[in-house]
This record gives sequence, structure tokens and C-alpha cells, in this order.
Amino acid sequence: MRVLLISGPNLNLLGQRQPEIYGSLTLAQIEEKVRSRAAELGAEIEPFQSNDEGEIVGFLQREAKAADGAIVNAAALTHYSVALRDVFEATQLPFIEVHISNIHAREEFRHHSVLADLAIGQVSGLGWRGYIAALDSLVGILKDRSP
Ligand code: DQA
Repeated sequence: MRVLLISGPNLNLLGQRQPEIYGSLTLAQIEEKVRSRAAELGAEIEPFQSNDEGEIVGFLQREAKAADGAIVNAAALTHYSVALRDVFEATQLPFIEVHISNIHAREEFRHHSVLADLAIGQVSGLGWRGYIAALDSLVGILKDRSP
């Protein structure tokens, strides 16, 4: 099973960026934790981070066919990127949306996600552990769908 791990703008700054909100782990450390859990579950992780909306759209256009699902923290793009929403609709790639912080407890503009209704579900506010929760659920759900 191949799972894309997509990270949007500014997540390359994890570790230094507002650690009181986003924690002290770097993106590389989070990706390593996800990779190691994926190995236990018999899945393979393909991480991709970009600060550029178009690069993420292009990555999904290229990679979705060869993937079974995705874990997506689209960061700020979550709140406004119709282009990102459209590529998920176009590819029909099953995904779980993850946010490190609880977007519903923050500024009002963060409460809305343009991706949420396309996602299998959303994990928000569990810190880096949200990625592991998302991975466990995604792998289980995909296995249920094609046993
Ligand atoms: C975030 C929440 C977003 O509102 C914000 O723009 C981010 C990170 C999170 O993981 O909590 O960059 O997606």
C-alpha cells in the first residue's frame, strides 16, 4: 500500500515555527515517525512538501494514480485552495486531512476547510500524533475497502 504524505506551505519550518502551537518536532522527524509506523502496517510513505500550491497540484496529478491514499496537511491552502480541492475531486484519491493544531479553536478564518467534505475525515489538534492516528485509520479503511 502506497500513501502520499502531503505538507503545504510553511510546514518546512516545523520545529522553529511557533512551537507553542505546532510543537518542537521538525517535518523530517514527523515524516520519520509516519514512515516507521507505516512499515509496521506494511505500507510505504511518499512524503512531499511545498510552499507552492501549483507544485502540490502537479505532484498529485502525477502521483495519485500510483497511490492508494494520502495524508494531507495542506496548511494555509486548506482554507482557500480551490485548485487543491479540484485535484482531489479529479483524482478521487482517498485522503485524511490532518492539522497539528485545533483549527476550530483558532481564528475564525481557520475554521473552514475547502477540503474537509472530500476527505474521509479530519484529525485536528492532536499534534504530531494526529499523523499516526490518520495513518492507522487510512490503512485500516483502505484494507476494509479492498480486503
Ligand atoms: C495547520 C493549521 C493551518 O491553519 C495553518 O495555516 C498551518 C498549519 C496545522 O497543522 O495546524 O500552516 O494546518
